[in-house]
Amino acid sequence: MTQPFVIAVDGPAASGKGTVASRLAAHYGLPFLDTGLLYRAVGIDVLSGGGDLGDPVAAEAAARALEPGRLSDDAALTSGHAGEAASRVAGFPGVRAALLDLQQAFARQPGGAVLDGRDIGTVIAPDAPAKLFVTATPETRARRRWRQLNERGDLITYEAMLSDILRRDERDAGRGSAPMIQAADAVLLDTTEMDIEAAFDAARRIVEAARAKHGL
Ligand code: C5P
Repeated sequence: MTQPFVIAVDGPAASGKGTVASRLAAHYGLPFLDTGLLYRAVGIDVLSGGGDLGDPVAAEAAARALEPGRLSDDAALTSGHAGEAASRVAGFPGVRAALLDLQQAFARQPGGAVLDGRDIGTVIAPDAPAKLFVTATPETRARRRWRQLNERGDLITYEAMLSDILRRDERDAGRGSAPMIQAADAVLLDTTEMDIEAAFDAARRIVEAARAKHGL
């Protein structure tokens, strides 16, 4: 039996992984899950319930109570504040365990799927036939995210954005539970010098090579 056509896209914040992953999903007609939204929702739920982001019990309870259906139309989840809250709760093993089944079930759909996150190629779908690790320099990522947030009135200086990005990278890569790391069989895509079209094109070529290799 051929394996499901799963595309795992990992990488740091504002690397372009979300855009690349959603474009790949549209291109191949596959369902897409932005797994960062799950952690963002958990962080926001802890805060709105008056909890402390440093409390693993509150965070795990919020993860277990999460209604995935609400993720698509909640604009609050895309704020810088939600990203920071997400990376705080994402370090708790209980939170990661609570969100594991949902993500693995999504990845196991018979027709295949595209997922983006930090641990898709290493933990969620280690057998995915196509894996990309999308990155860019911290300065490029900070500039991209700074522009996006300012365009929607979320005012922040470039310097503050860069220090947020560096802090988040360190936390995500340094945690003991499912740290952000390039899977041994993932292909590195550095988008520093690329616009969206070039990044998508490069990603598509990586996926085509993986499909040919796995006979998909
Ligand atoms: O990708 P996004 O910026 O939305 O992710 C927000 C945060 O959620 C990340 O900084 C990371 O801490 C966490 N995350 C994770 N594992 C994933 C996806 C996101 O730990 N698969």
